[in-house]
Amino acid sequence: MASKIRLDRFLAESGYGTRKEVKQIVKKGIVEINGVPVKNPSFKVDPETDNVTVDGEDVLHINNFYIMLNKPKGYITSTKDKELTIMELICDIPRFKSLFPVGRLDKDTTGLLLITNDGELAHRLTHPKWKVPKTYIAIIKGKLSKKEKEKLEIGINLGDFTTKPARVKVLKEGESSEVEIEIKEGKYHQVKRMFENVGHPVLKLRRIAFGPLKLGDLPEGEYRFLTDEEVRKLKKETGLK
Ligand code: URA
Repeated sequence: MASKIRLDRFLAESGYGTRKEVKQIVKKGIVEINGVPVKNPSFKVDPETDNVTVDGEDVLHINNFYIMLNKPKGYITSTKDKELTIMELICDIPRFKSLFPVGRLDKDTTGLLLITNDGELAHRLTHPKWKVPKTYIAIIKGKLSKKEKEKLEIGINLGDFTTKPARVKVLKEGESSEVEIEIKEGKYHQVKRMFENVGHPVLKLRRIAFGPLKLGDLPEGEYRFLTDEEVRKLKKETGLK
């Protein structure tokens, strides 16, 4: 049997707003549990058996959502900002307000961004202990020499930290080159700083994989829900059941 949780948490997890916002909703007296109005935000609800309504509408409490977004350029990876955020791209999902991005991609980086409301999984996926691999395609200025490639692979001292070993594969070479790079950490601007350090600024950056997740052919600006199998693999990667 699922354990009982506070009404404000239940509503926040169901996408009715932040804990502060849902407290206001409850205090208005428009929330009913099994047909009885409840004005106390700390009232305990059994998500499995209690029927909760807001303004007469049934609240669907699906605990966890897992979404893959192909982030386009120009969006900030944050739930709130004065500029356009990735939330604009998922706002048609019911209860999207309970969701948040796992890690971040720069404003001009595109590609795979995981979005969820599973705090434990998000915490683990971004924790260095679990060394979750992230794969990027970088378009860089110029050609990587063998020595520069090795430097990236072995680890680079970036001043404030030394990068851990990375996997690097040159896909195309020319005036600019296309390079696939897999890193198992996620420091701020890490990929750009690594290439900059060996003298090849990143012109474009796209993330194509995050742990066991692959971006595949999901069009830019679109999202999809993860399959149960994908969620299972993500959890396994970080020691969760
Ligand atoms: N590394 C970067 O430099 N930028 C990103 O957006 C992601 C990884």
